[in-house]
Amino acid sequence: MLEKMNILGIESSCDECAAAVVEDGTWIRSSIVATQIPIHAVYKGVVPEIASRKHTEWIYAVVQEALSQAGVEPADLDGLGVTARPGLLGSLLVGLSFAKAFAWARDIPFIAVDHLLAHLYASQLADPSKTDQAAPVAYPFLGLLVSGGHSIICRMDAFDTLTVLGTTIDDAVGEAFDKVSSHYGFGYPGGAVIDKLAQTGDPLAFNFPLPKLYKGEHRYDLSYSGLKTAVINQREQFRRKSASPLRQEDIAASFQKTAVDILLRSLFRAVEDTGLRTVVAGGGVAANSYLRRLLGERQDLRCIFPPPELCGDNGAMIAGLGYHYLIRGERSPLTTQACARVKAFKRSYP
Ligand code: KG4
Ligand code: ZN
Repeated sequence: MLEKMNILGIESSCDECAAAVVEDGTWIRSSIVATQIPIHAVYKGVVPEIASRKHTEWIYAVVQEALSQAGVEPADLDGLGVTARPGLLGSLLVGLSFAKAFAWARDIPFIAVDHLLAHLYASQLADPSKTDQAAPVAYPFLGLLVSGGHSIICRMDAFDTLTVLGTTIDDAVGEAFDKVSSHYGFGYPGGAVIDKLAQTGDPLAFNFPLPKLYKGEHRYDLSYSGLKTAVINQREQFRRKSASPLRQEDIAASFQKTAVDILLRSLFRAVEDTGLRTVVAGGGVAANSYLRRLLGERQDLRCIFPPPELCGDNGAMIAGLGYHYLIRGERSPLTTQACARVKAFKRSYP
């Protein structure tokens, strides 16, 4: 029998300082996510300089805890994966530099991983303590990558082969949740708070507008700035029941419904055009209960979501994806750069 491979994954692209040990690209042996949310909540958004300073302070302890919970010594590691792009540059550099030093000192194979591909890999991970694991997802499938910085509908032909079909032409969907929430003082970050408020709200209280983006090269594209403006500045114009008192739950539910409808309209067009019937979601917004329910209701599709704790940023998706490059014998040079953005992701990626 082949030896099992333990890969350490390190993630520090935004405000989560995370590390994990994953066996054979699938089995999560440990996953530590130290979130900076309470620190940035006071500013209602991530402050990049504070984020990188906190990563510098925390990363050693986070990695140590991941190794200790997995019961793995550094000498037992078969490889190390780290997020190198895209993200906040200062934050990326902390994880990347730490990982390079670790790999060099211990002579461990080192691979720099793409954060977006990792989000779309998250649903392939499994908890070894659970026996009812779903079968691995076969390629090709449609990817729905929805987070605070990205909103992408793509075709995935392999773990490293992504073709962007549509993307946002302005704000990301998670960003829209965060901005609406911040405007109304609902809380930070906005996604989970709006999701919760919406449970008791009327999604039809407001008839917020959908973007008119369905022609030509914009067939699968998304746009959130119009919805954001409508919810924040033109609310009364779109109110359906003018006699009823204004409830924040209704604003949350109506906004969330429209935000998800925008995603699904483009996604379902891609389903029809490509004939692909498997949809794999990833990214923080993939935790949204309304999105999960609506996609779950489509009996004709196989819709796969990572468990909520693997939707947001984590080290396990980095380790899991890194494994596949490492078993192909790929290594990244210790001169690898961090990149805040990945160029030309509109039509081809990476
Ligand atoms: O993937 P992620 O942790 O970080 C990025 O790579 O951006 O995503 C964070 C985003 C935030 O905008 C947050 O508001 C959103 O995911 N989010 C949600 C939910 N939970 C987190 N959006 C909608 N519904 C949720 N339940
Ligand atoms: Zn992310």
